Amino acid sequence: MNGRKGISRRRFLGTGVAATSTVLLTSRAARAQTTTAETDDIRAGIIGVGGRGSGLLAAMNASPRVRVTAICDIDENHLNRAAASVEADRPELFKDFRRLLDFKELDAVVIATPCHLHKEMAVAVLDSGRHCYCEKPMAITAPDVNAVYKAAKRARGIFQIGTQLRYGAPWKTSIEAIQNGIIGKVVFIRGHRHNIGDLPHDRQWLFERDKCGDTIVEQAVHEFDIYNQIFQDMPRRIAGFGSQALRFDPPGRDILDNYVLAVDYGNKRTLDYSHSWIAVDHVPCDGRRELVYGEKGQLDVEEGKIYFKGADRPELVDMEPSGDTTQLAIDDFFRCIREHRRPMCDEESGRSATLFALLGRKALYEGRVVAMTELLAEM
Ligand SMILES: NC(=O)c1ccc[n+]([C@@H]2O[C@H](COP(=O)([O-])OP(=O)(O)OC[C@H]3O[C@@H](n4cnc5c(N)ncnc54)[C@H](O)[C@@H]3O)[C@@H](O)[C@H]2O)c1
Repeated sequence: MNGRKGISRRRFLGTGVAATSTVLLTSRAARAQTTTAETDDIRAGIIGVGGRGSGLLAAMNASPRVRVTAICDIDENHLNRAAASVEADRPELFKDFRRLLDFKELDAVVIATPCHLHKEMAVAVLDSGRHCYCEKPMAITAPDVNAVYKAAKRARGIFQIGTQLRYGAPWKTSIEAIQNGIIGKVVFIRGHRHNIGDLPHDRQWLFERDKCGDTIVEQAVHEFDIYNQIFQDMPRRIAGFGSQALRFDPPGRDILDNYVLAVDYGNKRTLDYSHSWIAVDHVPCDGRRELVYGEKGQLDVEEGKIYFKGADRPELVDMEPSGDTTQLAIDDFFRCIREHRRPMCDEESGRSATLFALLGRKALYEGRVVAMTELLAEM
């Protein structure tokens, strides 16, 4: 980006640095009562500007009345590339996230580092009084989920988790339609995600359980967040089987490459889910799919179609808001800060989606039916 864009953006959107102290509030009650001027820029930073962080940084840069004032990464190449992409904002650069948190010109921080670092960083960001957008999963162990959850509860700032799908079509409108009762009581969901090709081999941490939490925690939390919203609940019990059957590269890889789960939400509500990283190109029915079965009909979330009993053709779900869900989620994060609103994907949904994943992982590793009460006892 050249300097002209930044200058004109600031002219159009208002002034630079005055906003911050009004954005950081002393209590949740106070936050609800305090207003931030419409023209104030929010000063935002980001920790981790690899693959995902680069996309989030572009979304931050495109978000109205946001100025990128700080970037942190341990990789100098990533840091410099990111700085160049928001050159007009002249961000301060850091290699240590704690130094970034010492920087005063900062209201909100986005975290896009490997999963095992989320807990330490999210807690530090929240405890520093900043608003926090943390990539999913919230953490990769039950005690760490609890630590982030508690930090978000005591925080002056807001907490948003990076399960962005629910911010756009077809997920947002489909979930709202289901919650409004369009297919009656939901009794069953059939879901899967079968990825073509392999995870990127230049990111070693993605292949190691103790860094990514395994693929069920790193990736499937997106789906689990959606299922929990559809049922408006968390699973009671999960059984599952899985293996590392076909993929052994890069060296040190110890994550499952396929698994299936049988999930009991209680009260005669169940879910079947499968997930793999072994699919080849052009196999029918691969990719992601969610089919929701209700008393009155069935909703195909990905297709945005509702099939009612007795009807000869499906009704269509409204495909708004359209557009990139990451941009929608980031825009809403900054809007929530301005409007002193709780994000849709907050610490509650982040906690419940991650606990679903951790319960599923425990069932897979231990080869038995595991109850949520057991996992909660570990926290
Ligand atoms: N919401 C989504 O759709 C989505 C998509 C992809 C990834 N993600 C999540 O985003 C996160 C990052 O994934 P990625 O694919 O970008 O990984 P990545 O490896 O490409 O990027 C991680 C970055 O963090 C940096 N980093 C590592 N340790 C650091 C430290 N101590 N301090 C500062 N920077 C550090 C690395 O140098 C790298 O630039 C993960 O949590 C992942 O699950 C979310």
